[in-house]
Amino acid sequence: SNVALFGQEQVLGAQIAEAFFNERGGINGRPVKMIFQDTSGDEAGAINAFQNLMNNDKVVGIIGPTLSQQAFAADPIADKAGVPVIAPSNTAKGIPEIGDFISRVSAPVNAVAPNAIKAALAANPNAKRAAVIFAQNDAFSKSETEVFQQTLKDMGLELATVQQHQTTDTDFTTQVTNLLAAKPDIIVISGLAADAGNLIKQLRELGFKGAIVGGNGLNTPNLFPMCKAQCDGVFVAQAYSPEYSSPINDAFRAAYKAKQQKDPPQFSAQAFTAAQVFIEALREVDKKQKLDGMDLAALRKALNTQTLAGQYDTPIGKITFTPTGEINQQMFYTAQIKMDADGNSGRFVFLK
Ligand code: ALA
Repeated sequence: SNVALFGQEQVLGAQIAEAFFNERGGINGRPVKMIFQDTSGDEAGAINAFQNLMNNDKVVGIIGPTLSQQAFAADPIADKAGVPVIAPSNTAKGIPEIGDFISRVSAPVNAVAPNAIKAALAANPNAKRAAVIFAQNDAFSKSETEVFQQTLKDMGLELATVQQHQTTDTDFTTQVTNLLAAKPDIIVISGLAADAGNLIKQLRELGFKGAIVGGNGLNTPNLFPMCKAQCDGVFVAQAYSPEYSSPINDAFRAAYKAKQQKDPPQFSAQAFTAAQVFIEALREVDKKQKLDGMDLAALRKALNTQTLAGQYDTPIGKITFTPTGEINQQMFYTAQIKMDADGNSGRFVFLK
């Protein structure tokens, strides 16, 4: 499923963080243990996973779920139970506002998405007409397309058509026909990896030659097998660059490369960051009051308070949180997909 494509990357990032911080003393001498739950990609699965983690595993905090669509269903349950949640990938508007115990390290659509449009227009300065398509059954895609559409208008483009699809769609004949009929110079897609990959492939096969911009759901190398050579040239904004040099990112990048023989993608870096935030916040809580003596409800509350108060030097840069739990992040990037000649492998090339 779509979510599995993101989930593999997130698990890797969190596992690297677990090993990295445990090698460096864990929580002031005690190791951190991560428990992984598969949400199977929908709301019911996320709720079930949250309940297992909170009630059976008695975790101090939760990192997840992958999709904003799932977060709007599961986060209120954790919030009500007083369990801190850090979203590593939810980018829809309104996630931290779900409750006091909900924060995120995934910068929201309004902070990230406009960068991809700007890069695409810089490369295509004569573009005048834009077409947009979004997954209408996905909260993140709906939120992102609003930002994309506003950015296009702000940059003086004519919005020639807005099309809709479902994240479960595989045949985009109707949408592609409508998109091409609008004669756009640029097409902007908000969806998840599997649907978007098929859509890009069908757009190119039916003759679209203009620029394609993809949103955060396309920010995974797991997109490449879907559209293969046809992925080439797609612009995707990034909340992480493997090329950002700092001691923590150099270490993270090296650890990831040792496992995967390639640079880490954004979802892995954000999952590492979420784990780092919890671990560093737990170290601070433990310095003030030994974790051993605290009851679970008090520990969860103290962890949430400290999470929001801290400053963190992470692979995605130096970050803090607003009192609501929104990330303050300084650095964003845009990349373009570059596929190898065989169409089977590729990478995100970061634009200067
Ligand atoms: N950024 C995507 C979401 O929030 C994964 O659903």
